[in-house]
Amino acid sequence: MHPLLFTPSRINRIAFKNRALVAPMTRISASETGVPGEVMRRYYASFAQGGFGGVITEGLYIDNAWSQTYAFQPGIVSDEQVAGWREVAAAVKEAGAVVIAQLIHGGALSQANRHRDTTIGPSAVKPRGQQMAFYYGKGDYALPEAMSEQQIREAIASFADSADRAVNQAGFDGVEIHGANGYLLDQFFTDYQNQREDDWGGTLEKRLRLTLEVIRAVRDRIGREAMLGVRISQGKVNDFQHKWQEGEAGALKVFGLLQKAGVDYIHVTEYKAWQPAFSDNTRSLAALARAGAPDTVIIANGGLDDGELAEDQLAADADFVAIGKAALANHDWPLRVQQGEALRPLAENVLSPVATIKEGEY
Ligand SMILES: Cc1cc2nc3c(=O)[nH]c(=O)nc-3n(C[C@H](O)[C@H](O)[C@H](O)COP(=O)(O)O)c2cc1C
Repeated sequence: MHPLLFTPSRINRIAFKNRALVAPMTRISASETGVPGEVMRRYYASFAQGGFGGVITEGLYIDNAWSQTYAFQPGIVSDEQVAGWREVAAAVKEAGAVVIAQLIHGGALSQANRHRDTTIGPSAVKPRGQQMAFYYGKGDYALPEAMSEQQIREAIASFADSADRAVNQAGFDGVEIHGANGYLLDQFFTDYQNQREDDWGGTLEKRLRLTLEVIRAVRDRIGREAMLGVRISQGKVNDFQHKWQEGEAGALKVFGLLQKAGVDYIHVTEYKAWQPAFSDNTRSLAALARAGAPDTVIIANGGLDDGELAEDQLAADADFVAIGKAALANHDWPLRVQQGEALRPLAENVLSPVATIKEGEY
């Protein structure tokens, strides 16, 4: 019934039993000091028990400076945080799935940070939109300070250090750099958020440079054999409708540059993965990724709620699919799809009033 979805595959040297992955989802359920505990271990393992071939974690903050984005967000910096993730990663693997750590720097979208009272970003431009209430935020985002060259170098090093801890200490199969959804790397890529006149702003290549340098630094640190991916999007948590200003031609350039920088996979996310990425053309962002980065694995995400939509996307333009809210509603989504069982709708209390993991959810 779903021949592609349930065909085993690989990324780099890592084998997946199928092509259904859990999308990264922040659940602000770590301790105040960012340590994942027993609830998170059971929560993440339940997706593996439910048949997912891989699990991408929520975004983990990467330093004790400006990267933390939300209260109760987990980090991968301290020994306690790493030890907590070692338990989570082992539980997911034991249940038969691949486990990937997503690494995030919140930049100007940071709503809460135990380590700093201020925020930083490419330029001193207040982000659009409002802080997210379901992550305990309220009101406008703070006005960030423009990052110095030194702060940019430190952020790049923090990505590399955290990737090293994730792979070599915590036991993750790989890492995903969060270059999407409005966070620091995407802020640099975004025309209206990045007004720099140095080599970190301006042209498409210069705006993408931070993402590319992070990829190169991480690859240098974890080696050719560890799995490394990047997530990229047009829309942002604080600006859903945003479109890349250079259109299709720019998108093809972006994907080519990401491939050249050395990622094993590119994870594209859109509101509906199959829809045209730009209004003046028909190709989806996944199709453009496939065309611009033909030697790189493509993961598609966005609205792939049932087996048919997922299978169609795999037939069209993607090697893997990442399932978000439908996975929260069905930790056993792959088993249900495979057995032709009905999928449950997402219960209202899962993400409301706050997005914490609730008892009985796993
Ligand atoms: C509660 C929640 C938390 C999320 N947190 C993250 C995150 O930490 N990192 C990330 O890249 N995307 C995050 N996302 C976005 C999802 O990965 C995904 O792109 C989005 O839900 C759309 O996919 P879907 O239609 O399958 O739900 C989050 C989404 C939700 C609903």
